[in-house]
Formats: sequence, C-alpha cells, structure tokens
Amino acid sequence: MSWTVRARTTSAARTRELAASLAALARKGDVVILAGTLGAGKTTFAQGFARGLGVEGPVTSPTFTLLRQYPCALGQLLHADVYRLDHLVEVADLGLGELVEDGIALVEWGDVAVPALGPVTWTVSITPVDEEEDEREVAVRAEGDDDRRGAVAAVLGSA
Ligand SMILES: Nc1ncnc2c1ncn2[C@@H]1O[C@H](COP(=O)(O)OP(=O)(O)OP(=O)(O)O)[C@@H](O)[C@H]1O
Ligand SMILES: [Mg+2]
Repeated sequence: MSWTVRARTTSAARTRELAASLAALARKGDVVILAGTLGAGKTTFAQGFARGLGVEGPVTSPTFTLLRQYPCALGQLLHADVYRLDHLVEVADLGLGELVEDGIALVEWGDVAVPALGPVTWTVSITPVDEEEDEREVAVRAEGDDDRRGAVAAVLGSA
C-alpha cells in the first residue's frame, strides 16, 4: 500500500536537515525521485540527503552533467537530473537501475521519467507554499510496499 507523509520547512537549511534525517532511513537499492518546479529545492534536498549519508565536499546540481556519483555510507550515492533529457530511452541509458544495486539514487525530475527508472522507492515532492517566502511543503510518498512510514513520519514530524 502506498502512503504519503508531509511536512513544512521554512528555509533551505531546514530542508537540508530534514533530508539528512531521511537519509538515515535509506537502504541500498532505494530509488528516490525528487519532484517539484524549477527552483523548488530538489538540489538543496539532495545536498542534505548526501550529507546524511556521509558525503563530504560539495554536492552540486547535475543539470548539465546529468549524473554525479559520490561514495557514501551505503556504497555510491547517484544524483541525477533528467530535466534536459527529451526521451525516456536517454534516461534508461543512464543505467540507474543497475548502478543503484551498489547504492542509492536521487533523481531530480524523475517523476516525468518513471517508466525508464524501474521500481521507485519514494517520491519526494517539494512545493513552494508562497512564492515570496522560503516555506516549502515536502511530501514523501512511498510507491510500493514500504515499512518505513512510521520512521518517516517521526522524522518529518520533528522537522
Ligand atoms: N525551504 C526551502 N527549501 C529548499 N530550498 C529553499 C527553501 N527556501 C529557499 N530555498 C532556496 O531555493 C533555491 C532552491 O534551489 P535548488 O537548486 O535546490 O532547486 P531545484 O529544485 O533543484 O531547481 P532545478 O529545477 O533548477 O533543478 C535555493 O536557492 C534555496 O536556497
Ligand atoms: Mg536542481
């Protein structure tokens, strides 16, 4: 059964903190989609998530490189951005499905490429609450059978 847990953050720093806490719940093989409009905070979330997995050094947007890899506590953290890819076959060519066997994948704009991604663990949707403010709604949806609902709710509840 799928489920969704929501929270609000009031700054980029808070989004990074929330993401780092969620990363502590991640498991090898997880594929996490980051959804949201331009500038919503997908890369900001990825930065916090990476820090939570022990990635040192800067995590920058993969908008032009498409895919970056960082060694992390669970193997490799794959950070992809499929915004610039026009065809699903290009997304499939990134090979995330195989690469993620040795780690975790974060895919910005992955919601538009679901058929090319294989099984998705979570979809994290980041939505500006008010264009003028820094507040964001962060919704974590589990796409399949996932036993982490309570743990995710605990993390988001304390955000
Ligand atoms: N609550 C918040 N959560 C996340 N980012 C925030 C928040 N408030 C302000 N920001 C700012 O919004 C911007 C989000 O940029 P970011 O690159 O993370 O977005 P993105 O969704 O990855 O964009 P793109 O679609 O271009 O990849 C940053 O400048 C960040 O500091
Ligand atoms: Mg981005």
